[in-house]
Amino acid sequence: MCEIIAVANQKGGVGKTTTAVNLAASLALAEKNVLLIDFDPQSNATTSLGFRKNDIEFDIYHVLMGTKKLSQIIKETEMPFMHLAPSNIGLVGIEKEFYSKKNAGRELILKKKVQEVVDSYDFIIIDSPPALGPLTINALSVANSVIIPIQCEFFALEGLAQLLSTIKILRDSINPNLKIKGFLPTMYSSQNNLSKQVFSDLSQHFDEKLFKDKTNNNYIIVPRSIKLAESPSFGKPVLLYDVKSNGSVAYQALAQTILQGA
Ligand SMILES: Nc1ncnc2c1ncn2[C@@H]1O[C@H](COP(=O)(O)OP(=O)(O)O)[C@@H](O)[C@H]1O
Ligand SMILES: [Mg+2]
Repeated sequence: MCEIIAVANQKGGVGKTTTAVNLAASLALAEKNVLLIDFDPQSNATTSLGFRKNDIEFDIYHVLMGTKKLSQIIKETEMPFMHLAPSNIGLVGIEKEFYSKKNAGRELILKKKVQEVVDSYDFIIIDSPPALGPLTINALSVANSVIIPIQCEFFALEGLAQLLSTIKILRDSINPNLKIKGFLPTMYSSQNNLSKQVFSDLSQHFDEKLFKDKTNNNYIIVPRSIKLAESPSFGKPVLLYDVKSNGSVAYQALAQTILQGA
């Protein structure tokens, strides 16, 4: 059975792409067949994996528009078990398409397109854009679960209520089984009191939603890590750049927890 996980938070810069790319790579390292779908017109996941605009003739936009099948745009990556469905800036156009076509079921377009490949993958990870628009709604409509990265900075929880209410609306309508897989604290700095405060608020209010490492019962927290920030510029997930760095270790722990059924 393929498990589909969306990484979502309408705030920008909270670590969605970093999480999607590095979770996908860590699952692939465990020899799970993984498809990462870049569902953000900014295509940061695509460029993070070393692809340049000229490398990509067709992308997820063409799949949504029906000009290509999903299987026709999928690229291999440097990780043997990890494939990428790239995006491109053209994907911004899809929002207009979605709104202009008054077709019922426009929330379910990605879900329809994904059916073609679900049998080929153990996991599909979807990186979504920083908005609660039609792309994120499509991602949340096909997903079995959602991971919500929370940046350990001021305003961390801002917008969370709106995201949770969107998830509830989808559960009550088109995706009744959508689960919150967990909140993932990102960019945590132990030197920083604000980081500690945000984490303490999170654990107070949402303890059951935080990921825990089953081997030691510690919370899984992604630290602020220069290696994590640098690896996209080398076109690599962090584990191909510095596998022992603390950011790499955190994402591998997240993958292990998910493999153990988190
Ligand atoms: N744990 C981290 N430590 C240091 N830098 C990070 C970390 N996570 C993300 N970043 C950097 O922060 C910026 C925003 O992260 P990104 O994953 O692109 O967020 P989003 O996809 O939510 O906009 C990027 O430059 C990224 O490299
Ligand atoms: Mg992003």
